[in-house]
Amino acid sequence: MAMHTRSVLEPFGWIFQMITGILLLGFVLFHLYITHLSSHEALSYEQVVLRLSDPTIKAFYWIFLIAVAFHAFNGLRAIILDTDFGGRNARAVNAITMLLFLAATAYGGLLLIAI
Ligand code: HEM
Repeated sequence: MAMHTRSVLEPFGWIFQMITGILLLGFVLFHLYITHLSSHEALSYEQVVLRLSDPTIKAFYWIFLIAVAFHAFNGLRAIILDTDFGGRNARAVNAITMLLFLAATAYGGLLLIAI
């Protein structure tokens, strides 16, 4: 039987991969608009610090980070589970990618609170 990500991911894992993929398209366009098109000074130190002091932008970046981290680590999980090695060690692969996702979102969230 031909294997592809749809058969190694659980229905929820697959649906959230699709949802985060679609969300990321909008988030990345908005992010690149803010950083490159909103003004010529958008990436100056003062502008970046000013932007990151806005709670709405912080919240946006945290949601963006959750979507990016989920999509990246769930996608990596699917690729590894698709291999013979991954299939034999599915529990460890699931646990490690889940921990990486949690660590990325927790660490990024703490950084956003700290600045
Ligand atoms: C596919 C995902 C992403 C792409 C393609 C991307 C791309 C970029 C690019 C091109 C820059 C400008 C860098 C420069 O020219 O010096 C930038 C800046 C920045 N990025 Fe991202 N980024 C992504 C995801 C994220 C995420 C998830 C976060 C936050 C959690 C983030 C936070 C920032 C910040 C804080 C800056 C500095 C400018 C600012 O104040 O917004 N990026 N990004």
